[in-house]
Amino acid sequence: MVATRRIFYSNITMDKFDILVCTSAGVEAVTKRELYKLGITDCPATDGRLAFKGDLKTICDCNVSLRTADRVLIKIAEFGAQTFDDLFDGIFAIDWRDWVAVNQRVVVSAKSVKSKLFALSSIQSLGKKAIVEKLKKAYKVGSVDENGTTVKIEISLKNDVVTVCIDSSGDGLHKRGYRDLVGAAPLKETLAAAMIMFSVWNPDRPFVDLFCGSGTLPIEATMIGLNIAPNVNRDFAVQNFKFFEQDVLDEVRLKARDSVVERPLRIMGFDIDKNAISLSMRHAKRAGVQDYIHFQRQDFKDFSSKDRYGVIVSNPPYGERLMTEKEVRFLYKDLHAKFATLNDWSMGVLTSYYNFEKVFGKKADKNRKFFNSNLECHFYQYLGARPPKKQRDENQD
Ligand SMILES: C[S@@+](CC[C@H](N)C(=O)[O-])C[C@H]1O[C@@H](n2cnc3c(N)ncnc32)[C@H](O)[C@@H]1O
Repeated sequence: MVATRRIFYSNITMDKFDILVCTSAGVEAVTKRELYKLGITDCPATDGRLAFKGDLKTICDCNVSLRTADRVLIKIAEFGAQTFDDLFDGIFAIDWRDWVAVNQRVVVSAKSVKSKLFALSSIQSLGKKAIVEKLKKAYKVGSVDENGTTVKIEISLKNDVVTVCIDSSGDGLHKRGYRDLVGAAPLKETLAAAMIMFSVWNPDRPFVDLFCGSGTLPIEATMIGLNIAPNVNRDFAVQNFKFFEQDVLDEVRLKARDSVVERPLRIMGFDIDKNAISLSMRHAKRAGVQDYIHFQRQDFKDFSSKDRYGVIVSNPPYGERLMTEKEVRFLYKDLHAKFATLNDWSMGVLTSYYNFEKVFGKKADKNRKFFNSNLECHFYQYLGARPPKKQRDENQD
């Protein structure tokens, strides 16, 4: 059934916006946990998006603090459309002056699922035309020069219902800013944070990445351990919105910086490649956490530890971009042999290798599906003994 009634959210006098936090498939549960910590308890998830209402402060909080979200959108309008005329009229009817200044550059992206309108490039160009025509009319100008900042608009159709959103993040939220050089097959920072948050690690337990590459997992673990907001130092698209107030973002950043905790951590990153270790150290320094992480060039087969209740979280080669299938099979077997020497340790391994558990030689205690750069992967978790109850209770405080 197609919604015929148009719903417009575009009213800047409202102090509540309809916010959609986009997250990757499989990651929703931890993003929800993060939102809960921000005081957002009612946020149902549909198609990888968590929906709730909030004000400008909520939008800033989400952009600054969420570790596992890809971006934060604001829903502007929703209406039914089965023809391009319906689509044009619906988009033209939005009061675009609330969202776009006369000189801003509008970039439109499109998505379509189970809808009569499915040609994405046509949806994009028609959507852009409707926005530009409305801006010209509303601002009473003959043309818009688009030499200002960029506004990203998303038009998505599902079952012939159009949802129009504006992107408040700008660059994806995985772009924390510390990773300026690319290592071999790096993990997205948001996925690395999700793996750590799904693992049994807490800041009182040792954290080890045996295949650290560019350092993403140890750096994200340190930021979690010290409660450093991942995006406290970067800018967001919302800063270019007409209703933006600098004081609100300043306040959110100040609160995030005040919430950093000083505590000892035992975080280690190893890699067989010396360039990977230099890169990890460079990135840790850029993230301001270099003093908390021990990076060392080492084959994982040489790892040993006297510590108890350590947690390994790693993203070893999959035999796709790094190593051959034959090589990773040997590597996974050896990884099991190494893990077996680490009494009461736990381990989480992300791989796209289809037969991992068989080759590794043990069924995982937990298994979750994620996508790493569109590659279907599984996060296999092997759980060791839990720390004594007293320590567990303290960790939960
Ligand atoms: C998929 S990459 C890890 C990427 C990393 N998570 C990141 O975000 O940059 C796998 C890493 O395993 C390392 N590696 C391969 N064989 C190894 C071994 N035997 N011991 C330790 N590291 C190894 C590679 O040098 C590579 O950096």
